[in-house]
Amino acid sequence: MEKSRRPQQLAFILLFGLWLPCCLTQTTPSNSKLKVRLAGYPRKHNEGRIELFYKGEWGTICDDDFSLANANVLCRQLGFVSATGWTHSAKYGKGQGKIWLDNVQCGGGEKSIELCKSRGWGNSDCTHDEDAGVVCKDERIPGFVDSNVIDAHVDENKIEEVRLRPVVAMAKKKMPITEGVVEVKYKDGWAQICDIGWTIKNTRVVCGMLGFPHERKNYFHIHSVACLGTEVHLAACPLEFSKPNATSACTGGMPAVVSCMPGPLFMQNSGLKKKLKISVNNVRLKGGSRVGEGRVEVLKDNEWGTVCDDRWNLQSASVVCRELGFGSAKEALTGGRLGQGMGPIYMNEVKCVGQERSIWNCPFKNITMEDCQHMEDAAVRCNIPYMGLENTIRITGGRTRYEGRVEVLSLDSNGTQSWGLICGESWTTKEAMVACRQLGLGYANQGLQETWYWDSSNVTEMVMSGVKCTGSEMSLSQCQHHKTVSCQKAAAKFAAGVICSETASDLVLNASLVQQTVYIEDRPLHMLYCAAEEDCLSKSAAKANWPYGHRRLLRFSSQIHNIGRADFKPKAGRHSWVWHACHGHYHSMDIFTHYDLLNANGTKVAEGHKASFCLEDTDCQEGVSKRYECANFGDQGITVGCWDLYRHDIDCQWIDITDVKPGNYILQVVINPNYEVAESDFTNNAMKCNCKYDGHRIWLHNCHIGDAFSEEAERRFEKYPGQLNNRIS
Ligand SMILES: *[C@@H]1O[C@H](CO)[C@@H](O)[C@H](O)[C@H]1NC(C)=O
Ligand SMILES: *[C@@H]1O[C@H](CO)[C@@H](O)[C@H](O)[C@H]1NC(C)=O
Ligand SMILES: *[C@@H]1O[C@H](CO)[C@@H](O)[C@H](O)[C@H]1NC(C)=O
Ligand SMILES: *[C@@H]1O[C@H](CO)[C@@H](O)[C@H](O)[C@H]1NC(C)=O
Ligand SMILES: *[C@@H]1O[C@H](CO)[C@@H](O)[C@H](O)[C@H]1NC(C)=O
Ligand SMILES: *[C@@H]1O[C@H](CO)[C@@H](O)[C@H](O)[C@H]1NC(C)=O
Repeated sequence: MEKSRRPQQLAFILLFGLWLPCCLTQTTPSNSKLKVRLAGYPRKHNEGRIELFYKGEWGTICDDDFSLANANVLCRQLGFVSATGWTHSAKYGKGQGKIWLDNVQCGGGEKSIELCKSRGWGNSDCTHDEDAGVVCKDERIPGFVDSNVIDAHVDENKIEEVRLRPVVAMAKKKMPITEGVVEVKYKDGWAQICDIGWTIKNTRVVCGMLGFPHERKNYFHIHSVACLGTEVHLAACPLEFSKPNATSACTGGMPAVVSCMPGPLFMQNSGLKKKLKISVNNVRLKGGSRVGEGRVEVLKDNEWGTVCDDRWNLQSASVVCRELGFGSAKEALTGGRLGQGMGPIYMNEVKCVGQERSIWNCPFKNITMEDCQHMEDAAVRCNIPYMGLENTIRITGGRTRYEGRVEVLSLDSNGTQSWGLICGESWTTKEAMVACRQLGLGYANQGLQETWYWDSSNVTEMVMSGVKCTGSEMSLSQCQHHKTVSCQKAAAKFAAGVICSETASDLVLNASLVQQTVYIEDRPLHMLYCAAEEDCLSKSAAKANWPYGHRRLLRFSSQIHNIGRADFKPKAGRHSWVWHACHGHYHSMDIFTHYDLLNANGTKVAEGHKASFCLEDTDCQEGVSKRYECANFGDQGITVGCWDLYRHDIDCQWIDITDVKPGNYILQVVINPNYEVAESDFTNNAMKCNCKYDGHRIWLHNCHIGDAFSEEAERRFEKYPGQLNNRIS
C-alpha cells in the first residue's frame, strides 16, 4: 500500500553540490525493481519455491520450459553465486495468488528474470501444482545487498548517504555528532536540503539512518510534510529534485537542521546514560560480529527464542533496532545468516508498520513446529552512530589485513598524538574480541601474547598495559588498563596481536539431552585404570585400594552443536596433538570442557576431569555433510550444522561424585571454557541444571543454556540448591 504513495508536491531543493537537469522528478510510483524470494517447505535459506513481487503482489513461476539457466538468473538475483539445480511440480508446496511467469527461457546471463523470454506477466495456463523452485549454491555473492534492504525508491533517487554538518563551531567535536545541517550525498557531491516543508518525520528518518533511535522534538522550528516516519532511508520518502534558479535557492527557507537523540550505548553524558539504562529487556541481538547486528531473539515466559524469517523486512527490523537504541535497520537478514538459535521459535510473519515501540506490538503469527526451523532465523544489521572508533586503532606487521600487532593512538607527555603498542601480558581472546570489533574486522580468531614472528621493521613503543575487557566493549579505551605502562617484557616481540575473522563458530550443548540421559553408575575400580591414567577421577581415587572397590559416577550424554558460521577447529595443529594410548586416539585440545557440580554458594564439590576430546562430526542436520573424523589421525573439528556426541557410556564422560554428600546442587558444563577457540558467542557456552541427589539416585531439572533464561528466571534457578527440602515430583 505504501508503495503506491505518490510523491508530494513539496520538493527537497538541492542548495549546493550538483545541480540536476530541471525537475528530475519521480512522479510515477514505479516499483520497477522486481523482488524475488524463496518460499515453501521444507525450504532452506538457499532453496525453495520462487516467488516474485510484481504490481504489489507476490506470485510464482510455472515450471514449463524451466531450465538451469533460469535458476542461475534467479539465484544470482537472490544473492547466490549460481544455481545447482531447480525443481518442478511444486516440490516446496503450492504457492498462492498469481502465477506471474510461464515458459520462461533465460539465456543464463540476464541480470533479472524480467529480461528473459516468457509469455508475459500474468499470462499462464498453469496451476500452482506446477510451481517452480530453485536450489542455489550456498555461497553468497560478496557484498551482495538483499533486494529487501532498501526500498525501490532508493535507486531512483540516488541518495546514497546522509551526514550531519555540526552547526556553528561546537567547541569540541564530541562523538557521536547528534545535531547539525542535513547533507545528502548525491552522485559525487554533498548537498543540503531546503527546510521548507521539512517535518519531524523527516527528522526521524534522518536520525534513524544515522544510528539514532529518536529525534529531538521542537529543537528547531520546522514545518510539515513528506516522510511518513516509517521509512528506513530518506530516499524512500517521496521527494523531487528541482533546479534552483540563481535568485531563489530555497526562497524563504534555510538548510534543514536536525537534532537526534542517541541510544543509551552512545550517550556522551554517562549520568543520563544511567538514568535511561536500556529499559527494554524482551528483545536482544545474538551472535553478530559488530555492535548493532545479530540474530533477533525475543523473551516470552522467561525464556529467549528466535523469530522466523517469513516476511521479515526492513520495517520490522527497524522496530527491533530502535527498540535496542540503534537507528533504523540497514539490513533485514533471513535464512539464519547470522547463525542459528537453539531454543524455541516464537514469532513468524512479523509485520511491523515502523512506528511500534516494540516488536511485540507488531502483528505476527505464533509458530507451530512444522512452520519454521532455526535455519530460517531472522537477523538484523542496524544503523549505528559514527563514533570514529576505528581511527584510534590499527594493526601492523601481519601477513594479511586481518592480523597484526595492535597499536592504539595515544597522547604523549607533550600532548601530541602518536601510535603505540600494547603489552602482551594478560592479553586474551576477550581483549582481542574488542580490538577486532573496534577495527571493524569482525570476531577475534586469536589473541596473541607474542608477535616476534611478524615483520618488525617499524615497531612503535609500548603505550598500554594491563588491558582487561569483559569482551563486550566497543573500544579498548572502554576496558580497564594500567594508568602508567607496566610491562615485564616491553619489547615489541611481546606486544599484543590479533587475528580477526569475519565469521566464527558457535558451540552449544543440547541441554535437554543432558537432562534426559542422566544416571548414576557405581563402577568397579578394576574397570577404571584407563580413566585414572587420564585423570578422569577425583583425587581420593588415588588412595583407594585398587583394584578393589568402586567409584560413584554421575553420567550423561553431551551433544555439542556448532550453530555458528565457521567450523570449530582445535587451536593446536595436529603436530602437537597428544596420543592417548589407553583410549587409542589423539587429543587435540587439552581443555575442551569443564564438568562441575556446584553447591549453593557456587563452590565446586566435585570436578569432572578437565575433559580433553577427540573432536568430530557425529552427525549433521539435513543437507550438511560430515567433514571431521577422529579415527586414524583424521582431521578434528565440528562442521557448521553438525554435532559431536559423547554418549553417556563412553569412558570419562562423567563426574566422579564418590565424595559428594546428598543434597541439592547445580550441574554445570562449560564448553571451550578458556576461550581458546574463537566463537561468535561465548554466553551460550555454559549449560546448567538443578540437581538433586538423595544418596542413591539423581534428578536433573531446568537444564538450560547459559543465556536462555530471563534474569528473573535465572535468579530463581540459582536459589534452588538452597531449598534443601524442595520436593521434586
Ligand atoms: C526562480 O524560481 C521561482 C520558483 O522556483 C520562480 O517563481 C521564479 O520566477 C524563478 N526566477 C527566475 C529568475 O527564474
Ligand atoms: C499466540 O499464543 C499466545 C500464547 O502463547 C496467545 O495468547 C495468542 O493469542 C496466540 N496468538 C495467535 C494469533 O494465535
Ligand atoms: C617532548 O618535548 C621535549 C622538548 O620539546 C622533547 O625533548 C621530547 O623529546 C618530547 N617528547 C616526546 C615524547 O615527543
Ligand atoms: C616503515 O616505515 C617507512 C617510513 O615511514 C615506510 O616507507 C615503510 O614502508 C615502512 N615499512 C613497513 C613494513 O611498514
Ligand atoms: C536435543 O536432544 C533431544 C533429546 O534427545 C532431541 O530430541 C533434540 O532433537 C536435540 N536437539 C537438537 C537441536 O538436536
Ligand atoms: C560454601 O559452602 C561450603 C560448604 O557448603 C563452605 O565450606 C564454604 O565455606 C562456603 N563458602 C563461602 C564462600 O561461603
